[in-house]
Amino acid sequence: MRVLFATSEAYPLVKTGGLADVSYALPAALRQQGIDVRLLLPGYPEVFKQLSLIEVHENISLFSNLEPVRVLAGFMPGNLYPVYVIDCPRLYAREGGPYQDAAGNEWPDNALRFAALSKVASLFASHQFIFKPDILHCNDWQTGLAPAYLAFSHSRTRAKVVISVHNLAYQGVFGPEVAEPFGIPRSDMFRVIKLLGLPDHCFNLEGVEYHGKMSFLKAGLHYADWISTVSPTYARDIQTASFGYGLQGLLSARCHQLTGILNGIDEKAWDPATDRYLVKNYTVDTLASKAENTKALRSKLGLEQTPFKPLLGMITRLTYQKGLDLLVPIIPDIIHEGAQLVLLGSGDKELENRLKQYAKLLPGQISVTLGYNEELSHQIIASADLFLMPSLFEPCGLTQMYSMRYGTIPLVRRTGGLADTVTDATPGQVAKKLATGFVFEEENASELLRCVQRALATFREKGSWRTLQLNGMTRDFSWFHSAKEYVGLYQQLLNK
Ligand code: ADP
Ligand code: GLC
Repeated sequence: MRVLFATSEAYPLVKTGGLADVSYALPAALRQQGIDVRLLLPGYPEVFKQLSLIEVHENISLFSNLEPVRVLAGFMPGNLYPVYVIDCPRLYAREGGPYQDAAGNEWPDNALRFAALSKVASLFASHQFIFKPDILHCNDWQTGLAPAYLAFSHSRTRAKVVISVHNLAYQGVFGPEVAEPFGIPRSDMFRVIKLLGLPDHCFNLEGVEYHGKMSFLKAGLHYADWISTVSPTYARDIQTASFGYGLQGLLSARCHQLTGILNGIDEKAWDPATDRYLVKNYTVDTLASKAENTKALRSKLGLEQTPFKPLLGMITRLTYQKGLDLLVPIIPDIIHEGAQLVLLGSGDKELENRLKQYAKLLPGQISVTLGYNEELSHQIIASADLFLMPSLFEPCGLTQMYSMRYGTIPLVRRTGGLADTVTDATPGQVAKKLATGFVFEEENASELLRCVQRALATFREKGSWRTLQLNGMTRDFSWFHSAKEYVGLYQQLLNK
């Protein structure tokens, strides 16, 4: 079976969040199941810097207002599976992030940039190139137009399409301003639809139209053969008004073609026994060595050295989703409870400033590092005692699973993938040796604080804490089972 996995980011080439981790590890796990899976990515500068590439297709016309592009091929570092890269300097050769410039503003031509990614994916899927996939696996809004292009292609054979939703909060909604980067003045939406190479008639409720604009994600959800999302609970959540971000109607109408498959973790990249960023590696049998990492992190970040104070960690994009509005007001209470806090994150500038102010107030107890830092993220996961994820919604979440693997206890809100991966330390679950963390329900700061207090009380009972650590460290979070589920899904689509 041949699968093209189309994505806008993939570790270690380019990463803003969990999608990059999934785009690296899931294809590797699928290959272990005998699937010929290959990646398709835009040609960002970081991709060219890290991969040796050769040209496989040239002179491909995508849109009337864009010069022809090339498709190059190379191999993923580490896992060595094939990666196809779209070479189009006008769209991708620029410094900054994959979606935003260095100041955090969305690139004004994102519609065109990701329409191009979607279009190339659809050309693979309609068997126009040498690699002819049986399945096109799209991810998030950036590849959402691919199923639409495919639906209107005249090719005799084509792949079946799965679209995975990693986060419904980002939908790729664009209005008539999309025409400007084409060098054309603002015009009506039909002009835009035409510019992006879609037929007029798809601009309606039963197509790509979304409140007078167009939605890339809606297009994907409407035209794909199957929809998956990254946890069973989130698959249910997104069919409700609270989590559906306006697409709950479409999602519940397609509930028979919608599955939640839980993400796994890359057990090689996230292994306390071999992690090269740790000062001391450890396993379940040498768990005492974890403390050496904590000591080193405290001195690196200027935190007071004290083995008696629990260290609370958080690594996150600083956005509404991650529940910082619950955490920030109780930071003084957490410190008052005798804990220390270490946070690594970037995003919302106002949140960044507030967090920095706290760190300045209590430098020996609170450490805030702004920016993206792979090495520090591993060190925090290994060094913290408790890992905080008070997310308001969470499609899956990976860091709670990384934490459990490192004997760091997650404290999470019961939502999406957090509900599916963390077992609360209730007396019943503790007795059954199933508890792995602390879970709270309500979206408010005092519930979060109560949960932190509950966790800190357990921290003082060394035996109970160690049991939680061992339960988490010995859980299977590998990709094996989830990759099998994807293979089953692909097979089912091909049999139809
Ligand atoms: P999301 O994809 O919503 O951001 P996940 O938990 O699925 O959440 O994945 C986040 C990934 O991004 C993890 O690998 C995490 O370690 C990483 N990450 C997030 N923020 C940072 C940061 N500031 N520095 C380094 N890694 C980060
Ligand atoms: C998204 C979600 C996160 C999920 C990740 C990978 O970024 O916010 O919960 O783990 O995608 O699927």
